Amino acid sequence: MCGVVGYTGTKQASEWLLDGLQTLEYRGYDSAGIQVVSSSGNLHGVKCAGRVATLRERAHSANPVGTCGIGHTRWATHGAPTDGNAHPHLDGSGRIAVVHNGIIENYQKLKRELMAAGHTFLSDTDTEVIPHLIQEAWDGPAKGDLAAAVRNATDRLEGSWALAVICADCPGTLVVTRNGSPLVVASTPDGAYAASDVMPLASVTSHVLQLNDRDIATLTPDGAIRITDRDGRVVDHPTAIDIDWDASAAKLGGYSDFMAKEISEQPEAIERLLSGRLGKHGIELDELSLTREELASVDKVVIIACGTSYHVGLIAKAAIERWARVPVSVEYASEFNYTEEYLVTDHTMCVVITQSGETADTLTAARRMKGMGCNVFAITNVLGSTAARESDGTLYIQAGPEVAVASTKAYTAQMVGSYLLALRLALANGNMSRDEVEKHYRDLTQIPDIMREVLARRWQDKQAARLFRNQRSALFLGRNCNSTTAYEGALKLKEISYLHAEAYPAGEMKHGPIALIEGSFPVVAVVPADHVHDKTVSNIQECLARGAVVIGVATDGDERVAKLCSEVLWVPPVADELIFPAVAIIHLQLLARYVARDRGYDVDKPRNLAKSVTVE
Ligand code: AGP
Ligand code: GLU
Repeated sequence: MCGVVGYTGTKQASEWLLDGLQTLEYRGYDSAGIQVVSSSGNLHGVKCAGRVATLRERAHSANPVGTCGIGHTRWATHGAPTDGNAHPHLDGSGRIAVVHNGIIENYQKLKRELMAAGHTFLSDTDTEVIPHLIQEAWDGPAKGDLAAAVRNATDRLEGSWALAVICADCPGTLVVTRNGSPLVVASTPDGAYAASDVMPLASVTSHVLQLNDRDIATLTPDGAIRITDRDGRVVDHPTAIDIDWDASAAKLGGYSDFMAKEISEQPEAIERLLSGRLGKHGIELDELSLTREELASVDKVVIIACGTSYHVGLIAKAAIERWARVPVSVEYASEFNYTEEYLVTDHTMCVVITQSGETADTLTAARRMKGMGCNVFAITNVLGSTAARESDGTLYIQAGPEVAVASTKAYTAQMVGSYLLALRLALANGNMSRDEVEKHYRDLTQIPDIMREVLARRWQDKQAARLFRNQRSALFLGRNCNSTTAYEGALKLKEISYLHAEAYPAGEMKHGPIALIEGSFPVVAVVPADHVHDKTVSNIQECLARGAVVIGVATDGDERVAKLCSEVLWVPPVADELIFPAVAIIHLQLLARYVARDRGYDVDKPRNLAKSVTVE
């Protein structure tokens, strides 16, 4: 969701805070602000609705002076995205400044209590109660100890938070804490840093510490970080993460946008993920915390995810059921969390799929599954993420930082990760021999080269994008595992081009969506040379009969599809039907990007969306 940064050290704080916020822009936000404190105890802040670039301009003319400060990009949950609601927020005396990511669920009750005690509020946010609570504690039981005041205040909060706090009465001290929202800290020779994720820190260190929920870290200008738990006891060994990618991995490196860069990185991501996976156990997946016997006894798999990761789950279901012959349920985390009765067996395995590892709905669902006694296996991209830390085992897909809000390389890498899991299960439970597993693995290793070939055909996507000009809606169709390709293609299109896109299993179209079709209505039909090819071709004909313009996603050499479709996005032949979704989606990612750019939109930062949705 939004971003929090903090710094205390020897340098002027504002420049790094602004750079840090810019690096966190990808998470999605609608307002931004910074506040610094000078060594003589003057607080100076700048904040505004809109972009970090605007904040930077204002900060440059205001020139806030101080070597300790906090910064924030806000994704409004309570109160409109206005200058006044932007963070940081101050207490009544104007001496304590706070930035907050998350939601304070009991803020109304707290606000009433504080108002009754004489506090005045200036914003509509839930956040503003926090500096007032800290002030009460500071003046009261905490007796001028900022960490103690933050501990006291957070004890009264319900909900989720990552907080960074500074105070004019102790310049140089930065206190940060979290509960349910991510936060990392780092110690360096020129000071101590805090941020919502490792991305802004990659330019200053390769070693960061992950805070646990409710831990409170006090950062001082000498770079020292003192972490205490909820009871004030010192935490000796917080979880450390080594950033194993260069800071340049999170930079554009010659691409015009991150989405273009990330789409292009897919072949290498899959190569990295597959390398060294074939070994003495067939598929090497040491990340699983289950023995071979335990794996063999898995009789149900529940996959939990949201958005694009949910689509990965649908494909994973196809692979696990086909290869390992274990029944799979795929659940939207947000729905699962409010399903009263959910049936699991004694040997149900839960797989959570989450690029960020921080999606609030997914984390809640994973905790629920754990509470039901299930082994939880996470497939994620972000090292040290909450999903990774809370799961019994974690497969890191190693796709490198995904900055564009629309997920691309994580989709295909998570898909291939789930294929590895399916093969490992299949070998463990005896549904596949080692030779069969090896054959499937070899098929998977063809994916990167086929992806390269699809990427080289991007001109086809650019050409097809023209068919979406002056359109308001589109229909995506596919069958079996490629109904998921249709869902994901439609999601990409709507996310970044704001074009309404409906996706349906092709055979289901006649039960309703076909009513949408009229002259020049664009239909994207995913129609590989597979066992349902002819059925999907019939659906294309049904669309054409009603005046649709059809864009096919088809296997090289398919003359029938070539004759029927206005444009065809061609995919080289694949060795296994399950490989098609992993490579064909690249065309639909590119198509969505071309349509969005054609409309003049920022493809990396679509409106209303956040990269990691850390609120329920
Ligand atoms: C993908 O393009 C979306 N922005 C979104 O659906 C995303 O996949 C979803 O929010 C889940 O995120 P996660 O994988 O980080 O859990
Ligand atoms: N709930 C807070 C607000 O609306 C913080 C939102 C965020 O995480 O950015 O201001």
